[in-house]
Amino acid sequence: MTYDFETLNKKRSGNSAKWDVQENELPMTIADMDFKVAPEIIQALHEKIDMGLFGYEEIPKEYFESVANWYETEHDVRPNEEWMIFSTGVVPALSSAVRRLTSLGDNVLVQAPVYNVFYNSIINSGRHVVSNDLDYDTKLREYTIDFRDLEQKLSDPLTNMMILCNPHNPVGKIWNQDELIKIVTLCNKYDVKLFSDEIHGDITFGTPYYPVFGLNKKYLDNVVVAVSPSKTFNVAAIHAATMIVPNANLRAQINRGLNSEELAEPNIVAVPGTIAAYNNGHNWLKALKKQLLGNRRLILDFIGKNIPDIKWVPGEATYLLWFDVGNIIDNADELTKFIRQDTGLIVNAGSVYGGDGQHFIRMNIASPEKMILDGLNRLKKGIDDYKSGLNK
Ligand SMILES: Cc1ncc(COP(=O)(O)O)c(C=O)c1O
Repeated sequence: MTYDFETLNKKRSGNSAKWDVQENELPMTIADMDFKVAPEIIQALHEKIDMGLFGYEEIPKEYFESVANWYETEHDVRPNEEWMIFSTGVVPALSSAVRRLTSLGDNVLVQAPVYNVFYNSIINSGRHVVSNDLDYDTKLREYTIDFRDLEQKLSDPLTNMMILCNPHNPVGKIWNQDELIKIVTLCNKYDVKLFSDEIHGDITFGTPYYPVFGLNKKYLDNVVVAVSPSKTFNVAAIHAATMIVPNANLRAQINRGLNSEELAEPNIVAVPGTIAAYNNGHNWLKALKKQLLGNRRLILDFIGKNIPDIKWVPGEATYLLWFDVGNIIDNADELTKFIRQDTGLIVNAGSVYGGDGQHFIRMNIASPEKMILDGLNRLKKGIDDYKSGLNK
């Protein structure tokens, strides 16, 4: 089957949060794609709706089987189905885990710059954010983990949970097995629960992603892994995610947390949408990655030729590109505001992700080529105009 990655579908329809912008504006922001959902998923949802049975639902065995099969086929590791719990999203489950596994006033560790909603999950629950900021090498344009700093922060008796983003949004880094083992070993040493958000694990380019639940069982007693088809298949609004918790005691805690906060009951499309995605979405994902790689080449080529002041931080995962704008300005808020006013292009200022984000912008490239070209021309104009303003 051939898939359509050329039509711009989302534009101002479907109550899209990303497209709730002015007529002349072009959002390359929120991690939603502008491609239509795989026909295999649409068909499954049609069948479900046509049944006309919209009562309360349970999670069937086929749901967990589809998750396990997906990981076995795509990533060569099969999670145990008994380790799995359904939840209405990764962020709801994360916030619930923060409340269930830590106490008011505890520290929860993140690695900034990181997905901004992690901060909300921590702060809104009355916990403190502690960051093991990622180290950025300006010359190599690479992020690494400062393990000494990580150990020091995990050893604080008030740090009781760490949130890992694997692969990492926004820097696009896939943590390798050695890094993962070091992280889980430190978490175990200091009795810190590890919540590994692996929502971006399926969209990778070359470098393999390794799910934390695939590590040797001896490492897994403190681990909660969150997966979901939502980024991979552009189905965020079906609100479905799976927590994979190898340790039975920890699983009971997570389960009780999700259930007492009413985050474990599916809506009518969550189950059929997930099963269809995981059982029948392999070819669509393959085609999507090809399209994204093409977009990436187009963008990097354009930027290399036309906007050499901004530098891509090479990432191996996600459809979010992370650009170093430090040659132009160390205030990404000011730059992104200017570009929006000047050209209508909206990209994320890196500052929202914390850490060194103020030198960066994040750009969502999961859009048809025509839109990408429009965005690139606006970006060039915005940066040229900004720089000429500086020189006046
Ligand atoms: C790292 C990360 N985690 C979680 C989410 C959102 O997950 P959900 O919609 O399942 O709550 C996103 C969305 O962009 C994300 O980037």
